[in-house]
Amino acid sequence: MKINLSSDTVNQLALVGAAVIIILTVYVAGKYIRQMKTDTSSGELSDENWDGIGEYKNPLPTGWAISFVGTMIWGLWYWFLGYPLNAYSQIGEYNQEVKAYNTAFEKKWQNPDADTKLAMGEGVFLVQCAPCHGVAGDGIDGKAQGFDKWGTQRAVLETIEKGSKGLGYPMGEMPAGMASGDDAKAIAKYVAGGMQGDKPAAFSACASCHGEDGKGLGGQAPNISQYGTTAFVTDVLNRGKKGYIGTMPKFSDGRLTDIQKDAVATYILSLREK
Ligand code: HEC
Ligand code: HEC
Repeated sequence: MKINLSSDTVNQLALVGAAVIIILTVYVAGKYIRQMKTDTSSGELSDENWDGIGEYKNPLPTGWAISFVGTMIWGLWYWFLGYPLNAYSQIGEYNQEVKAYNTAFEKKWQNPDADTKLAMGEGVFLVQCAPCHGVAGDGIDGKAQGFDKWGTQRAVLETIEKGSKGLGYPMGEMPAGMASGDDAKAIAKYVAGGMQGDKPAAFSACASCHGEDGKGLGGQAPNISQYGTTAFVTDVLNRGKKGYIGTMPKFSDGRLTDIQKDAVATYILSLREK
């Protein structure tokens, strides 16, 4: 964008102001430098003397003394009466307004239809996620997760091969290579399919941490029975991820409402390769 300085009176005023400040600064500095060269000081010296450098007795300027004491009184008033802790604050008012707005928002969009939800998800994605994951959700050449793949069988296979870390579960990191070859493929298919149908025998390699039912042993590890669903994405958003290819912040603590998380999850899952 090209900025046209002459198009805006505010800019012109600011420039005039800047010029005035520079002229005044040069004038005042020059005046004092001249004064330092010519003036000799006089007055009554105090007793202190540091290597021949003395100090004049200067009475406290009344105005300064009044504002010094006044500031202390004002400080005490501010802490104890004006804005005591837990009482009114602008930040508090802002938070209350945001909360009220979010409540109204949640109520209005309680049951969006599929199209509305997808559109809302795309909007949230473009603002909150696209800077890292790319406008098309492709992960910008491996800078973040690519959503053509994430949540698919291929991604589970990759998780088995490379391990996973950074979601902050009590169990910690998932080591690489917990299964391999056809076993890994069968497990990946089973997990990506929502753990429906016949359980491959090799899944026992995963059950020690994720549980026979895949639900993560009561919060010790992720619930992989819901891998690739909006519930899993919402969990990721609430936790953030310090992963292998970078760090994703948490989106809990009010950055996104529950409906927005659900909508953006629906949107990114819609980007998966078929
Ligand atoms: C030693 C314990 C352990 C074993 C064994 C294990 N996992 Fe994990 N798994 C974890 C932990 C912990 C996480 C969460 C890691 C993180 O923070 O990203 C995880 C995460 C995952 C994820 C989610 C990845 C993502 O993108 O968020 C999948 C899918 C998964 N495991 C599948 C499996 C499968 C399939 C097996 C068996 C082949 C398996 N795990 C074996 C501990 C384990
Ligand atoms: C600051 C950059 C950044 C932002 C913003 C960001 N992400 Fe991420 N995200 C990442 C990175 C980096 C990873 C990969 C971490 C890893 O596994 O190494 C990731 C991983 C993911 C994963 C895979 C998690 C897993 O367990 O494998 C999902 C799902 C995801 N992001 C969704 C989102 C959504 C939805 C948003 C917007 C609400 C978002 N991200 C915003 C950087 C970001």
